Amino acid sequence: MDVIVKDPTLLATTSTLALIGFVYIFSKFASFVKVLLDVYVLKGISLRKFGAGQGAWAVVTGATDGIGKEFAKQLAKNKFNILLVSRTTSKLETAANEISEEYDVKTKIFAMDFTKGDDLDFVRLGQIMNGLDVGVLVNNVGTNHDIPTPFADEDDKVINNIIEVNVKGAMKVTKLALPQMRQKRRGLILNLGSFAGLVATPYLSVYSAGKAFLATWSQALGTELKSEGIVVELVNTYFVVSAMSKIRRPTLLIPLAKPYVTSVLSKIGLSCGADVPFTSTPYHTHGIVNWAINNLFTKTFWVNHNDTIQKDIRKRALRKREREAAAARKAN
Ligand SMILES: NC(=O)c1ccc[n+]([C@@H]2O[C@H](COP(=O)([O-])OP(=O)(O)OC[C@H]3O[C@@H](n4cnc5c(N)ncnc54)[C@H](OP(=O)(O)O)[C@@H]3O)[C@@H](O)[C@H]2O)c1
Repeated sequence: MDVIVKDPTLLATTSTLALIGFVYIFSKFASFVKVLLDVYVLKGISLRKFGAGQGAWAVVTGATDGIGKEFAKQLAKNKFNILLVSRTTSKLETAANEISEEYDVKTKIFAMDFTKGDDLDFVRLGQIMNGLDVGVLVNNVGTNHDIPTPFADEDDKVINNIIEVNVKGAMKVTKLALPQMRQKRRGLILNLGSFAGLVATPYLSVYSAGKAFLATWSQALGTELKSEGIVVELVNTYFVVSAMSKIRRPTLLIPLAKPYVTSVLSKIGLSCGADVPFTSTPYHTHGIVNWAINNLFTKTFWVNHNDTIQKDIRKRALRKREREAAAARKAN
């Protein structure tokens, strides 16, 4: 049975609403298709643009373990010389030797503890970097709360360490790399972000806010530097198997550092799941989750979701501490 709408105002209103609905649904669909194209099909900017194979250096902080070590290895595989910056000299020496032998590139090391925020360390690092053609900087070093902890109960030292390492460390090393990059009018700065910076994470409040700082800072810095040939990218990361994440087995959503870093280096300049400038969520399943966070449910829903998860992790971590304390008492 055909329904004939005689009222022209009603007809115009329903047609307009239908059109708005169609445009809305189509834009969501198109943004999802773009995520799929970015993460599964398209290739990012070539590392040659930043000096790969031309004697340029990559500086990687937190380079002796986890994601940072993998960045150092894969950038060396792409024929960058590597300056590894991290805390433990013996681990730096081992990693540098491994890399120079396997990939036939030059390496240098610099040991510093970012939690100290010692100006002299940054002066010395600057002196090393001044003598190098720095094409890439990976601001990877990071530290986290030991376990999810209410802010009111968190140790001031932990709070200070997170700010020194994750926030001030990234800014200070970037300041050291910029003169060379600006002079050469080329450079890539990768800042390791986290989903904790995308959605506020209760009980990891300082880590979460520090990563949100990096996210906003990367957008501002990226805009300032784009006309000078320098690419800045906040690399948004869900979980990766590592000592920091305390996750040992990979899953569809939680990759090993190797495939994770491969995705970062092959997708430079593509937003993948992210919807803000100078930001990428390159690992395929992370990109899809980032799209879901941006497009499904409200921000409040996701913050509450994080709240539930972190409370659960905290309960389990406290139980583990109790078990360990009981075992230690028994052993003494
Ligand atoms: N893993 C994840 O699920 C995940 C998720 C989102 C974002 N991220 C981010 O990715 C980055 C790397 O994380 P990761 O999981 O690979 O960490 P990781 O496995 O714990 O490795 C950390 C590296 O940083 C170095 N380091 C730690 N504290 C330092 C300090 N105070 N001074 C100098 N070096 C220090 C460590 O050196 P030593 O070996 O000497 O200790 C090590 O080389 C971090 O920025 C983190 O926030 C990780």
